[in-house]
Parts: sequence; C-alpha cells; structure tokens
Amino acid sequence: MIKHLVKSIREYKKPTILTPIFMILEVAMEITIPFLVAKLIDEGVNANDTKAIFIIGAELLITALLSLFFGVQSGKNAAIASAGFAKNLRQDMYGKMQKYSFFNIDKFSTSSIVTRLTTDVTNVQMAFMMIIRGAVRAPITIICALVMSFTINPKVALIFLIASPILGGLLILIAKTVHPIFEKVFRTYDKLNNVVQENVRGVRVVKSFVKEDAEISKFDKVSQTIYENFYRAEKLLALNNPLMQFTVYTCITLISWFGAKAIVAGSLTTGELTSLITYAMQILSSLMLVSMVFVMITMSLESARRIVEILEEVPDLDNPEKPVMEVKNGDIEFKNVSFSYVKDKKKLCLQNINLRIKSGETIGIIGGTGSSKSSLVQLIPRLYDVTEGELKVGGVNVKDYDIKTLRDAVSMVLQKNELFSGTIKENLRWGNENATDDEIEEACKLAQADEFINGFIDKYDTHIEQGGTNVSGGQKQRLCIARALLKKPKILILDDSTSAVDTKTDSLIRKAFAEKIPNTTKIIIAQRISSVQDSDQIIVLDNGKINGIGTHEELLKSNSIYQEVYYSQVKAGEEECQKA
Ligand SMILES: Nc1ncnc2c1ncn2[C@@H]1O[C@H](COP(=O)(O)OP(=O)(O)O)[C@@H](O)[C@H]1O
Ligand SMILES: [Mg+2]
Repeated sequence: MIKHLVKSIREYKKPTILTPIFMILEVAMEITIPFLVAKLIDEGVNANDTKAIFIIGAELLITALLSLFFGVQSGKNAAIASAGFAKNLRQDMYGKMQKYSFFNIDKFSTSSIVTRLTTDVTNVQMAFMMIIRGAVRAPITIICALVMSFTINPKVALIFLIASPILGGLLILIAKTVHPIFEKVFRTYDKLNNVVQENVRGVRVVKSFVKEDAEISKFDKVSQTIYENFYRAEKLLALNNPLMQFTVYTCITLISWFGAKAIVAGSLTTGELTSLITYAMQILSSLMLVSMVFVMITMSLESARRIVEILEEVPDLDNPEKPVMEVKNGDIEFKNVSFSYVKDKKKLCLQNINLRIKSGETIGIIGGTGSSKSSLVQLIPRLYDVTEGELKVGGVNVKDYDIKTLRDAVSMVLQKNELFSGTIKENLRWGNENATDDEIEEACKLAQADEFINGFIDKYDTHIEQGGTNVSGGQKQRLCIARALLKKPKILILDDSTSAVDTKTDSLIRKAFAEKIPNTTKIIIAQRISSVQDSDQIIVLDNGKINGIGTHEELLKSNSIYQEVYYSQVKAGEEECQKA
C-alpha cells in the first residue's frame, strides 16, 4: 500500500526530505535554549556578571532566531510537499480511472469515487504532513530532552522516565478507541455523498414526485449518524488535553519538590532546575504530538486503503501486443457468445448468441426490458469482453483490434447517453475533434437535429448545461446521434436512442440513414415496431437468448413474442386514432 502512495511524491521528493531536516535543526535549537537559559541564570544572574549576561543573551537570541528560521523553512517545505503529494495522488487516481473499462467502473459507485478523490485524499495529505513533521519531531525532541535532563541531574530526570510511558500508554489507548469510530465516519461520508449526488442529479424527478421531504429526512439521518460518531470520537479525543495537563503539572510539581531538595543539598543549581522544567514541558508536549500523529495516521489508514483500491484496480481491457489498426468493414459475427457482467458462467445474461450481420445491413433488435439488448450491443465496441465464444468485427476478433481503432469504427449511442457542459459544437466534436463546421452540420441534418439547432438564438454555439438539462429528451437524443455520426463509423449502434423522438422524425432519421450512409452497418434497438420494421433482419431477444431472427413479415408469421408486441402497438395506435 505504502509503495503505491509513495510513487505519487515524485517531483516533491526534495521538500519531503528537507522538511524533517529543517525540523531536526529546529529541535536542536529548541533543546539548546533551556540549556542557555540555565547558563544565563547560573553564570550571569546569580553570579552578577553583566558581561556574561550580554554574551549568553546574544547567544540565546541567535539560537531563537535560528530556531524560528528552521521552523519556518520546515513548515514551508511540509506545505509544498504535502499539497504536491495530494495533487499527484489525485492526478494518478483520475488518470487510472480513465483507463477503467465498464467492468471496472461497475465496481465503484460514483459517490464513493468522489469521496475518494476529495475527503480521502485530504486525509492522506494531512497524515503525510504529520508524518514528515511530527513523526520526526516528537521522538527526536523526547530523546534529546531526556539526554539533556539526565546530564543535568539523573535523579530528578527519573521522574520523566516514569511519567512518559504512563502518559504515552494512555494517549495511545485513546487513539485506539477513536480509530474505529473514525472508520465508521468515513463510510458514512460515502453514504452522505451518495444521497446528495442522487438528489442533485435527480432533482427534477424528486420534485415531480414531491419527494423533497423524504429526501431531506434521508439526508438528515445520514448527517445525524456522522454527527453522533464525530461527537463520540471528539469527546474521547478531548480527554487528551486534560490528561496531558495533569501529567505536566504533576511532573513539574515533582521536579520542583525534588529539585528544591537538590538545590539545598547543593547538587543542583537554580538555572538547571529551570531547564529541567522546560525539558519536562517539551517531552510531554512531544508525547501529545505522538498521540495526535497516531490518531491522524490511524484515521487516514482507511482513506489510504480506499485510495490504493482505485490505484490498484487493474484495467480489465488491454490493447493486444500487435493490435490491428484498421477495421475493414462493418461485418459482425457472434459465434456462440455468452456473457456475464460478473464473469461468472453461472450468472450469464447472454447465452449462446450466434449471429451474422453483413456490412451495410440494418438490424433491428426488439425485446422486453432486461432481455439483454443493451448487453448484446455493448460487446461490439468491446465495452465489455465476451465471457465465452467469439465476436468478430470486419472479420477480426474484437480483442485483436487497437481499442481506439475499434471504438472509432463502432459508434454507439448509449441508452444512458450524456451531454457535457459546453456549446453544441463542442459536444458534437467529442465524436471527432477535427470535424469541420460543414461536417457537423451534415451529421446534424442526418440526425434531424439541424432544424431545432437553427431555431436556437446562438445556433451551434448554444450552451448546453451539464447533463443536457436545457434541451428536451428528444433533442438530446438527436444530438447524441449526430455526435456518433461524426465519427463516420463503419457500424452505428442506436440503443433505444429515438425513444423520445416523435414517430415522424424517427422515420426521417432512418430514411436519411438509408440514403446517406448506406455502407454503414446500422443496429437499432427500439421499443416501437415501427422503428425496426423495415430492417434487413430483426432480432427478437428474450431473457438473454435469441428467440427469433427474420424480416418483419417472417417474424409476424412465425414469432409469438413479435406478434404480441406488434398487435399491442397496432391496437394502441388505433385507439389513439379513434380518440383523435
Ligand atoms: N452494469 C451491469 N452490471 C450488472 N448487471 C447488469 C448491468 N447492466 C445490466 N445488467 C443486468 O443485465 C440484464 C440485461 O440488461 P440490459 O442489457 O440492460 O437489458 P435491456 O437493454 O434489454 O433492457 C438485466 O438483468 C440487468 O439487470
Ligand atoms: Mg437497454
């Protein structure tokens, strides 16, 4: 796990190393100060030596200034190192996620990815800062202060040796109890993000179902859980301070008690007693720091684990070693293809699919929801890999193609299509970065989108909101079709992509396809028989299996599912006509 994280330090190695070095120098100065103070009291004040007071005073001033300088340097480097580390970590995670296949993406929920990229990275960043500063500072301070105290007066210094482990043990005990609570908090964060995200994405649905109150109470419940856990954790952590104060003051009292006796006996000077007290403070506050570092590290371990999970996920689709760089034509062949989303042969969602589609044909796919229509076509651009059997495009197994080459040749309008914030033109250029304005217009004409685009004031420069909320469902679908067309694909797949388009426009789109892109293989998944009626072949899918293949007339004669769908739609159509 550490190995994965350390990789992200990269160009910030220098500040990462400089931080503890400056830290050590700062500690050295801090340890020297009580020593000089003791000297100042004993050799200057008590001896009434003005010259010594000036000299030692000057030494003190320089030491203090150096300590300040080193402290600032260490802080600055720590900030650069930890912020840089976090930046690299985010970039690495994001970069990795872009390589994910659909199979990989299925494993993480969107909200958990968001928490991982934000909160989790911030936690690890803080822990990283604590480690390069605190984890170095505390032990060194403790060791140096102990050594100094023992050289001054071993007997009195024994007090530290007894107090430190007791306090240290207690602090660690607190940290250990707190850790599982924090773990819970982070898991709840995921839930909170999930609720927020779902609500914000689906705000229109929430409103139309008047579910605001339910959503609010769902949110409140999660917030309440976070509040309770944080409260419990912080309550325990709050014990740290009084515990520490109690130990400090007990130690100081004890030191003063034994110190006073030693002074009377002549084995200790006043100056030495002052420095012993300062060392006591330093040791105990370092212990406090240790416990904080401990809490921070345990807290961030869970975050680190979640980050590494993203980094370690192996992209499930890889380019072959000698990829085929050209898709010859739009032939498609399924040979005994079976498919499972979880790569489990017992949970197949497509079984024994055998199909031959010739380049340029128009294929319709009909079937109830959940009959695996989308699953079937997603295999063609290799969004998922087949679990069994073989799938060929242009006569070559899809696994042998360079993935980009294949996906450029197989353009798919996903059922859950997305537009991104930006102008219409920018959105369409996702299909082809170098498309000229003429090409864009032509694609839009084919998709029957140019008419409504020209109706907008800014035409092709009209701004699309995130998720395409400012265009209608049918308009969005047509923009997505145009975007797919801009790739000039050999195979075009429309997964229920005209469901929100009226029947007339729908038929215009199909007519344009038939006339303008006759050599492109067109696969059309639809609910309406009218959308697939004049296809060369229609595939009826049922429960992940092919129930029938044929032309409209053939299926109407022989396939019961097809007949049922057809007559129910014709009847519904007639009723509508009568009403009208
Ligand atoms: N990403 C996914 N992970 C796991 N199962 C899925 C996923 N997508 C779809 N399924 C399941 O596969 C089956 C077929 O779904 P799908 O191909 O989307 O059907 P259709 O497009 O015909 O409505 C359904 O049972 C669905 O629950
Ligand atoms: Mg579907």
